[in-house]
Amino acid sequence: MTAQPTDRPWPLGVEGLAYGGDYNPEQWPQSVRVEDVALMQEAGVSLVSVAIFSWAQIEPRPGTLEWGWLDETLDRLHAGGVQVALATATASPPPWLAHQHPEILPVLADGTVLWPGGRQHYRVASPVYREHALRLTRLVAERYRDHPALALWHVDNELGCHVPHDHSDDAAAAFRRWLEARYGDVEALNAAWGTAFWSQRYDSFDEVLPPRSAPTFANPTQQLDFARYSSDAWLEHYRALRDVLREVTPGVPTTTNLMASTRTKWLDYFSWAGDLDIIANDHYLDAADPEDHVELAFSADLTRGIAAGRPWILMEHSTSAVNWQPRNRTKRPGEMLRNSFQHVARGADAVMFFQWRQSAAGAEKFHSAMLPHGGTDTDVWRNTVELGRTLKAVAELRGSTVRARVALLFSYPAWWGAELDSHPTNVLSYPATVLAHYRALWRRGVTVDVVEPSADLSGYDVVVAPTLYLLSDDEAANVAAAAARGASVLVTYFSGIADEHDHVRLGGYPGAFRDLLGVRTEEFWALGEGQTVTLDDGTSADLWTEKVHLAEGTEAVRTFADGDLAGGPALTRRTVPAAAGGGRDGAAWYLATRVDADGLQAVTDAVLAEAGVRADVPAAPGVEVVRRHGADGRSWLVVLNHTGDGVRLPVTGHELVTGTPAGDGLVVPAGAVRVLRES
Ligand code: GLA
Repeated sequence: MTAQPTDRPWPLGVEGLAYGGDYNPEQWPQSVRVEDVALMQEAGVSLVSVAIFSWAQIEPRPGTLEWGWLDETLDRLHAGGVQVALATATASPPPWLAHQHPEILPVLADGTVLWPGGRQHYRVASPVYREHALRLTRLVAERYRDHPALALWHVDNELGCHVPHDHSDDAAAAFRRWLEARYGDVEALNAAWGTAFWSQRYDSFDEVLPPRSAPTFANPTQQLDFARYSSDAWLEHYRALRDVLREVTPGVPTTTNLMASTRTKWLDYFSWAGDLDIIANDHYLDAADPEDHVELAFSADLTRGIAAGRPWILMEHSTSAVNWQPRNRTKRPGEMLRNSFQHVARGADAVMFFQWRQSAAGAEKFHSAMLPHGGTDTDVWRNTVELGRTLKAVAELRGSTVRARVALLFSYPAWWGAELDSHPTNVLSYPATVLAHYRALWRRGVTVDVVEPSADLSGYDVVVAPTLYLLSDDEAANVAAAAARGASVLVTYFSGIADEHDHVRLGGYPGAFRDLLGVRTEEFWALGEGQTVTLDDGTSADLWTEKVHLAEGTEAVRTFADGDLAGGPALTRRTVPAAAGGGRDGAAWYLATRVDADGLQAVTDAVLAEAGVRADVPAAPGVEVVRRHGADGRSWLVVLNHTGDGVRLPVTGHELVTGTPAGDGLVVPAGAVRVLRES
């Protein structure tokens, strides 16, 4: 996937790579606000997000508008050379709105009402809330339409973050409208939902509800459609606010901060992408993950996939510890710089944080920030200044893009479907499965595009489809076409099982991929807790096995050596003849069980080797190298040394972080970041 870096919108008036974070001046007295801008200049900050949670400050009571503090903030930032991603201020309604209109409060499946006192206590489908949010957005847009600091609109904040699913009566009404638009008449809904089962037939849309707490498993397609509806409802809210902004300020780009990672399940960001002028993402490390930098790389590659290869904004990450995990880890020396440049390596042209100044009060006072409680004589502040300086040194990266020969298929509906209840096993984690494959690719230094199954796969030599439980016929055909064009395709267990309505594809698993893979699975053999099986090469596997039959021409590369399925295929391969018109043969691999990390590495290595895919620049384990390509033919290597040892890479050019020529190889000290303009 190679996007052309021309004509793409970007925050207005921001040179080079943007640098900054959320800025919440309303939490501070005037003297501090004045100091803020001076310190931003010292750190090289160029863009800050303002007014995200400011509704109650802007409109302290219905109809009373207090703009003074915000006027002053924008003026001061502008005078200091800092541009503004101005929020719609709608992210959390003020207490008075919920007090006057308790009918805006969201409701969980069990009827629990989510009350004010935290944040985001609104139903996205509430007509009352939406009317107020649109009103406020228009007021903000009209007030600041001509302000020279206005660079970008930041719609709301992490839409759906805390309340992805609202089960209220407003949601029920909106869900019914959504279903009517999707199905037209209720008999089509009955067919799609399989309501002949358990006496669930509906006679009219009025009888349909969101999946509320029920005596037992709710209808799976109802659950799936409710997930689709909910993602669409948040998107529709985004669109409505964006349309106001576009109307008032047609020349100002609009975005909202996504949360693309292995953690955020309920918003189908691929379907959102076309509505954002610029893709922006928030990412936080998982302190419990010893290889959290690999998950970071996955998130960045997924964000670039959502952005269709165009440069994107890292809208939030943290300078050090967060405050919302069970144990919050402080970042080690050099880690924040490496984190930042991992995102840059994978296509981010902006590095921003939550937040500029660490709060003294409120629920996030123990969340790190660019300027910590301890002030400027701290490692965190020195890191903030160093990052600003380093981003300036590599400003020429702006607009360059990343190229990959490997596509890892990722699908939000497949995630929703794979993890529905009443399945062969309830402990299958879709993101953990995807991440295991990603990790095996990352270890080999291979750059990966994380894309949806309907993406253009024509440029890839390897396509990996982990547990793609549910997909449409067109998506399945798209994957098969990649193999017929010469790609090696690896599909794993519990893929191709259902169509988009979650109806099983009959005739044997993995229905949608049976022909491509040349296999037919007769029955699943989910394994018990702690139960493992061994493959004929000694690889250990757990969670899942299958009784697989091979079609003619399909080979069992590995078999089960023990267990109920001993002797049966565990890993298969079929040569896929080139499509009519020539080209080279492809291959279709099927992995019918969950192998351990070494086993998955071996499978991945075999697929990469047959496709001739290897790292652009060979590097020691733990040294990450990603190439960015400029439109003018220039290229850069971004190198992150995650290890405790210095390395020398056999590449030459000009190193931008230290500003020195690398004539005799590129030296990268332990833990360091280097950016080489290649000669
Ligand atoms: C999210 C939110 C921010 C802040 C951070 C803390 O990303 O958008 O407002 O709460 O989390 O990590």
